[in-house]
Amino acid sequence: MRIIAIANQKGGCGKTTTAVNLAAAIAHRGLRTLIVDLDPQAHSTIGLGLNPDRLTKTLHDVLTNPQTDFMQVIADTNIETLKLAPCNILLAGAELELTLVFGREFVLGEKLTQVSDQFDVCIIDCPPSLGMLTLNALVASTDIVVPVQAHYYAMEGLKQLLETVSIIRERFHPCSVRILGLLLTFVEHRTTLSKQVQNQMREFFGDLVFKTVVHRTVRLAEAPSAGESVITYDPRGTGATEYLALADEILNGTTRAAQEEDKQDTEDDDTQAEQAKETEYGGQE
Ligand SMILES: Nc1ncnc2c1ncn2[C@@H]1O[C@H](COP(=O)(O)OP(=O)(O)OP(=O)(O)O)[C@@H](O)[C@H]1O
Ligand SMILES: [Mg+2]
Repeated sequence: MRIIAIANQKGGCGKTTTAVNLAAAIAHRGLRTLIVDLDPQAHSTIGLGLNPDRLTKTLHDVLTNPQTDFMQVIADTNIETLKLAPCNILLAGAELELTLVFGREFVLGEKLTQVSDQFDVCIIDCPPSLGMLTLNALVASTDIVVPVQAHYYAMEGLKQLLETVSIIRERFHPCSVRILGLLLTFVEHRTTLSKQVQNQMREFFGDLVFKTVVHRTVRLAEAPSAGESVITYDPRGTGATEYLALADEILNGTTRAAQEEDKQDTEDDDTQAEQAKETEYGGQE
């Protein structure tokens, strides 16, 4: 199961919107997809039509009660291939409760192994902080997508996030999480500022920035009130089109991180072939 965390400690940059709609887009493409609502604000839960106050079992139980199996909390959505692990405000307590647990950074990752046969992709909606919940998400993940609001302070905070990711890779084993890409959100069609920010980001981060950008559209903000993703709420609109394009960009492996991995695989294959050749020749001598 591929696990993609949607993370940025900056608030309101489009994490939940990206988590819900990217998950729905991937599910729409036919992959069995799980969205994990790891933010006590429960916006993904609400955005997919569940009432957080009515839930009997939530992600909080999964993370704090060893007896609760992940499958027990999983709920259906209006897309058959998309399931949700919901939460409510109780999850806020887990920030503290987890700090008292041995191996506290690995709890989510270990629990996710209980469902890794049931899903192809898992998307985690992270809270706007770099606390214990986000740390659990990053350690559990294979990839990170970072939504970045296309405004003047876009770069702010990104350095800290990138540093955190590199520390996590060094410190926690097994963990080889990588930044899959930076996603520009709230892009304006007309303003030159939006263009400038986009150019600046691409100049600085190169093709680590997804080709797909998400424009500011009212449908994306409206869809949660209907309790569904934009993929079903407004299937032909800009939001749906852009999140489907992002899903394809990720699934087809056209991102820089994926290409580097392929290159590494090819190099490894070449090295192995070389070694095999040497052994072969060595054997003949
Ligand atoms: N592309 C967009 N166009 C218009 N509105 C958007 C867009 N993306 C997000 N929004 C709206 O902006 C607000 C913030 O977005 P969102 O909740 O996705 O951010 P977030 O990073 O998850 O916030 P938080 O840090 O609080 O979790 C929401 O009301 C959402 O509906
Ligand atoms: Mg959010």
